[in-house]
Amino acid sequence: MSNGPIAGWPGLWAAALHQVALRRSGGFGGSGGSGGGRSAGPGHAAGPLASAPGEPGAHGANGVNGGDHLSSGAVGAWRRPPPGRDDESAELFDLYEPLVARTPSSPPWLIAHLGQSLDGFIATHNGDSRFVTGPQDLDHMHRLRALSDAVIVGAGTVVVDDPLLTTRRVPGTHPTRVVLDPMQRVPVAARVLQDRDAPTLWLCDERWHDPTLAPRVAARVLAVPGLAGSDGVFDAQVVRHVLVAQGLRVLFIEGGGVTVSRFLAQGLLDRLHLALAPVLIGEGRRGVRLPASSCLADCLRPGGRIVRLGGDVLWDFDLSPSPSGSASGAGRRHGDELDVADAQVRAFEGGGA
Ligand SMILES: NC(=O)c1ccc[n+]([C@@H]2O[C@H](COP(=O)([O-])OP(=O)(O)OC[C@H]3O[C@@H](n4cnc5c(N)ncnc54)[C@H](OP(=O)(O)O)[C@@H]3O)[C@@H](O)[C@H]2O)c1
Repeated sequence: MSNGPIAGWPGLWAAALHQVALRRSGGFGGSGGSGGGRSAGPGHAAGPLASAPGEPGAHGANGVNGGDHLSSGAVGAWRRPPPGRDDESAELFDLYEPLVARTPSSPPWLIAHLGQSLDGFIATHNGDSRFVTGPQDLDHMHRLRALSDAVIVGAGTVVVDDPLLTTRRVPGTHPTRVVLDPMQRVPVAARVLQDRDAPTLWLCDERWHDPTLAPRVAARVLAVPGLAGSDGVFDAQVVRHVLVAQGLRVLFIEGGGVTVSRFLAQGLLDRLHLALAPVLIGEGRRGVRLPASSCLADCLRPGGRIVRLGGDVLWDFDLSPSPSGSASGAGRRHGDELDVADAQVRAFEGGGA
């Protein structure tokens, strides 16, 4: 991927945002839709697309209009430009196609991303991670935010980075922000808990829920029974279930390593993006960490491909279940059924800021 502007990309991106806006609003004649309340990020560029001639209800997605670069007859049936025509934007778009080509009735879908060193670290030992990867990978992360219903981070990331988690580097809408904090240890001053530019959910386990905190933040607090075990380690399946019940179905886990590893270990990821930067950190915060295997043949070896993002190499791993039903993730993929009584999830509207 070059560092310069890519000819067909702005039109493709606008088309992608439009498709996502339709999904979120319950378009395509489907039901559901994601949790509302999103605000548009600066430079929001999604707009209506022309119908491709001869294809009822089709959306032509192109440089601006007219089917130059990419079009779709039905949701998800994206047609690439002819080989050699605009390979760069087509290659980039391939990365986002699985997020874009979803309807309100598609199954929930989870993607995680980590930017790591060659020796597998996502930050130094004291947590410095700004920035492991280069600007093109940062743009990529913001694109994943824009196309997802929710962006999820662990408590450790909020404490160290104090991120906003909005979509700022690319045109697009902010996702709902989710802070995964079973013991509710994140300080109330954290920007993501106080900021009102996008909705934030602060997920904690009901047993550690502190009712005095919600009035002090702008975030909505969800106190979830069984979110974590007695050791405070969250159950990713419960997180997924609770967020889907909130209408959030395309979920982006942005870090850190503990959080992404937990979703991976429980076999819940459809895609894993690992961006490798040409840097050696030596010792620090680990990226992916899974239970040890003594036999190499038993180790997870997911199918993947690489995309160059400036000086970094992005691995795009497909972990989705095979047609036979077996998952290529690290753990067994569970069904949607889960013994979490939604009625027992208590919500507390934030009152602060
Ligand atoms: N390069 C990247 O792509 C990327 C992305 C995101 C974050 N990061 C970096 O990754 C690091 C954080 O990742 P992580 O794997 O350590 O954690 P994480 O996945 O973000 O969050 C989970 C961890 O946070 C801990 N935690 C909970 N409350 C805390 C508190 N009040 N203070 C400190 N930690 C708390 C938890 O500890 P318990 O198990 O004790 O509950 C748990 O181990 C940061 O340095 C961040 O800058 C890098």
